[in-house]
Order: sequence, then structure tokens, then C-alpha cells
Amino acid sequence: MTKSITIEDLRNHKKRKTKFACLTAYDASLSRLMSEAGVELILVGDSLGMVVQGHDSTIPVSMEDLLYHLRCVKRGNVNSHVMADMPFMSYASEEQTLENAAALMRAGANCVKLEGTSWISKSTELLTERGIPVCAHMGLTPQSINRIGGYIVQGRNPDKAEELIKEAKLLEESGASMLLLECVPSELAKNISESLEIPVIGIGAGVEVDGQIMVIYDLLGITQMEKSPKFVKNYLQEASSIEQAIKN
Ligand code: KIV
Repeated sequence: MTKSITIEDLRNHKKRKTKFACLTAYDASLSRLMSEAGVELILVGDSLGMVVQGHDSTIPVSMEDLLYHLRCVKRGNVNSHVMADMPFMSYASEEQTLENAAALMRAGANCVKLEGTSWISKSTELLTERGIPVCAHMGLTPQSINRIGGYIVQGRNPDKAEELIKEAKLLEESGASMLLLECVPSELAKNISESLEIPVIGIGAGVEVDGQIMVIYDLLGITQMEKSPKFVKNYLQEASSIEQAIKN
């Protein structure tokens, strides 16, 4: 039997300065291809609301949707580490946080991802203490798109950048096992990544982080966006098969 990739394996990547790959998956067939191609971390992301369900944000995604896609991904997964997103408002109270994270773990997740900054530190602590590893998603947090006002780079001004550095440290101290930075300047991502012991994954955050994540539909050139962000690359264009595109 192939040994499953653990959080310790991802930490070792950081220690050895070897990068790891993360892709989103929502079904069994693609998760099998990814896992067999050596993708270390698979995210069952609430981006499914946009790329699978056709909504214009991740907000309509429910726990039921997430659990359904997580179970599909688990059936195809061979040995990748599987992370599940906690949908919008599924961690609004302590009780909801524990109940919903437990449901995701029971459905086969190896860790859960929450969007937020200092306000998720208590939930991070609660979950970690109870054996549920947490990835804290910071920077551009799509579940807060209505407050942010658009899919725009975060942490550009020095005060905001300083705040993000402090909040990242707080989340590490609260027990977060990983951090995901979305759409922040590469210098800031490098700084955060170097100042934390936990692995830092980036999307639109430059190359100087410990791992990169991409939405599988973007990698395959199936995108809903009128204008793709700069970091989106169609890997299928230069590959002879989906397997090869994923490996690349
Ligand atoms: O839901 C998702 O796919 C994500 C990635 C964009 C990081 O959170």
C-alpha cells in the first residue's frame, strides 16, 4: 500500500526547502490522476461553487456540497494529503466550527481550511487542541468578497502588510498547521514564509513560498473568468495529456 502524505511530510518539505504542489479537486477521476502524478496536497475547495456550480462567488456553497465533493475526491485519492474547505458561515460560532470540522474529518479530510485573520485564531486553537489540523487562508479571502469589494491584491500598503505579518504569526501561535496566502505581493509572501515555521502555500503570491496551489480548471484552461489573473496558466496548452499537464 502506498504511504499517505502527512502534515509532517509537508513540514519536511519546508525544512529541506523542497517545494510541494497543491491542486483543487472536486471529483474522483481528477483526484486519482493528481494523486498518481505526485501532487502532495489536494484541496476540496469551495471554489467548486464557481467552477462546478457556476455561481459568481463561493458564498452559496453549503456543508452538504462540500461533503459530497470531499467524498468523491476521497474515493479517487491514492495517497495525497486531503484538505477540505470550511464553507461560508460554517465556522461562525464555536459550536458550528467544531461540528462542521468534525463532519469533514469523518468524511475523510486530513485537515480543514478556514478563511480569516485574527478572528479565526480562537477556532484554530479549538480545532487544533481537538486533533483537527487547520490551514489558515489569508490575504484575498473570497468568502469576504462583498466586504473587500473585488478580487484585488491585498497587503500592498506597508501598514496592511505589517498587519498581515502579525496576524500570520498569531495564527501560527494559535496552532495553525499551514497558511495559505492568496493575492498578496511576492515580497510580503516571502517575508511571511520565512518568518514562520509552518508551510506557507501561495496563489498569486509569487514563487518564494513553500508550496503553490492552483485551481485545476484554471490549469486545464477551462476558466469562467473574462480576464484571467496573471498567475493563471493553462498547462494543457504545452502538454500532450491531462496527466502530463498535472505533472508539469
Ligand atoms: O477554494 C479554493 O479553491 C481555494 C483556492 C483558490 C486557494 O481556496
